[in-house]
This record gives sequence, C-alpha cells and structure tokens, in this order.
Amino acid sequence: MTDIPLRKIDHVRFFVGNARQSAFFYRNAFGFEVVAYAGLETKVRHEAGYVLKQGDITFVLTSPLSDQHPESKRLVTHGDGVMDVALDVPDVRAAFEEAIKRGAKPARAPEALEDEHGVYETASIQAYGDTTHSFINRDRYRGVFAPGYRPIDPERYQEKTARPVGFAAIDHMVANVEEGKMNEWVGWYNKILGFNQLVSFDDKDISTEYSALMSKVVQNGTGRIKFPINEPAKAKRRSQIDEYLQYYGGPGIQHIALITGDIIKTVRAMRANDVSFLRVPMTYYETLTERVGPIREDLKELADLGILVDRDDEGYMLQIFTKPVADRPTLFFEVIQRRGSKSFGKGNFKALFEAIEREQELRGTL
Ligand code: FE2
Repeated sequence: MTDIPLRKIDHVRFFVGNARQSAFFYRNAFGFEVVAYAGLETKVRHEAGYVLKQGDITFVLTSPLSDQHPESKRLVTHGDGVMDVALDVPDVRAAFEEAIKRGAKPARAPEALEDEHGVYETASIQAYGDTTHSFINRDRYRGVFAPGYRPIDPERYQEKTARPVGFAAIDHMVANVEEGKMNEWVGWYNKILGFNQLVSFDDKDISTEYSALMSKVVQNGTGRIKFPINEPAKAKRRSQIDEYLQYYGGPGIQHIALITGDIIKTVRAMRANDVSFLRVPMTYYETLTERVGPIREDLKELADLGILVDRDDEGYMLQIFTKPVADRPTLFFEVIQRRGSKSFGKGNFKALFEAIEREQELRGTL
C-alpha cells in the first residue's frame, strides 16, 4: 500500500486522573516545560489540558472535569495512559478519507477548529483498543497549541525553574496487543497507513525461563515514525504483556522511547529528580565489553546508572527503562541514545525481561 503522507508524530495525548499533578510530574521529573493550558478559565467546560514540550516532543495531558465527559470511563478501565498518538499530515481530510476507504474505523470526523490565531484541523481513526490516531494540521494556525489552549500563566510555572534533562525527540512508541493479534495490527498499519515491517522478534529471541513475547516493528516510508507491536507468547508463567493487558484493561501503549544526545547526563538528572529505573545485575557489566566491543562511555558510569548497551553492524545504542510511571504496571518510558545503531536492543532483552520478572514477582503477577 502506498503511504498516506505523514510528516511526524505531532503530539501524544494522555488521559489522566489529575492533569494538574501529572504536569507537575512530567515537568519536575522528566524536565518538560509546561507551555499551554486549557480549562474553565479558557472557556473549555468539559476538560482540563496541559501542553508540555521538550525538544521536538509534545505531550498533552487531559483530565475530565465531570462524569459527563465522553471519555471519563477510561480512567476506571485503563487508569492513566496514552489515548491518542497524533500525526502531522499535509491534508487532514485527504488522510482521513483515504484511511476510511482502506478500512479504518472513524473516531472523529474531520473538523476545522478556529479562533483568533487561525485554523487547526483534526480528525481521528480508531487503532488498537481505545487508542486513536489523530491526523492534525496546524499550517494555518499560529496559536500556542490548538483552539481552547492559551500560553501558561507565567506566575504558575516559571520558565526559569524548568530543568530540561536533554530529551530531543520520540524514537519509537510500543503497543501491547492481545495474544494472536500482533500480525493483525502489523497488517492494519500496512493497509491503512502504508507502513512497512522493519524487524521481527520471536519468542526464541526474547523468552526467558518464565515469560515470553513476540514483537514486530512497523515504520512509515520516511522511517521517522516507528511503532513496535508486542503480543504475549506462551511460556511457563505469565508474560509481562499479559500483566499489562490485565491492568490496562486491553491493548494500549506500553512504552515511549525518548532520544537523548547524552544518556549519562539525562539519566543522572532524572535520578536526581527521583525517577525510578529498572536494574540489571552487576554481572551484566562484567561481560559487556566482550559483547559490544569498545564504546566511548565510561563503563563504571554506565554500571552506576544501570544503562544498557547493545551493538549491531551499524553501531551501538544505549538504553534504560523506567519503572511504570503510575500505580498500575502499565505505561513506562525508555531513554535511548543512538551511536549508529538503528535497532531496539535485542541483546538486552533477556537481562531486561528478567529484571521485569523480578518486579512482577514483587507484584504477585508472574
Ligand atoms: Fe523500546
């Protein structure tokens, strides 16, 4: 299938129980700047919204203001999580109509929202579970984010106290889907959005003694948008993907990988901000140089911070994973730095999944 022209991920919208407090978390722990607000004060009656930025990344945090909000049941079903991954397109109506023609389910018909700053166009299609993809275009919009939003009150979040941790862009966003559904969703991205399959990992690559998963990565024509899709695989005990599906109440976004140009600096800053990361045993570092060859970073520093390294024929990459960011064992983040490698850290899967299983053991969900 040919591509529907997609420029980039415009923003990621989270639906959360308390957007005001989530904004505080992503600002003070992840170093985002809070740039815009929508709510009662901006004549938005049904929800509160905060727009956060760091590098090219835009997060939108939305909370319902009453049970009359059409999405309010989401909070009970899913807890806090990603509701929409918005894609910037040159023509919203054309993208939407083409997607529908190819079999996508509509979530929101094309609309041109207008205010004194211009016209913001949006439409949405349904993806896995309750997750949607919006098509948006702001070529004719000069406001801070979208109609209804206004720049944040400088008294409320002072710019001088923002402390970015070095995030530049979204590298990839991973979905967990039900057992047997991975290929269906790979097919969906191919048929509806013209994505191609980049790599695939089967249970032999990534099973540990207990739990297993399978994964395929789809990407758009330019390679700028990458969505790995996981499904649980049969194993002795419960897969981390099953745990996610149970606690999220269905398929959804498992993790968002954010790129940094200096992972040591970024992770050090996040740890100072009290962000918790997964830990692998120190033995991982004893054999690291053997596995990945020479690297520029100081091994001791990587070991201190718990940063993982993997190499392929194009170079290497460094990565680390946070623990879940809310109460449910659902959404977490990856911090990633690429030194040539375009891969996803296959060599770290085993050590990583054993670390996740230790957490599952503590939660009684293994
Ligand atoms: Fe990842």
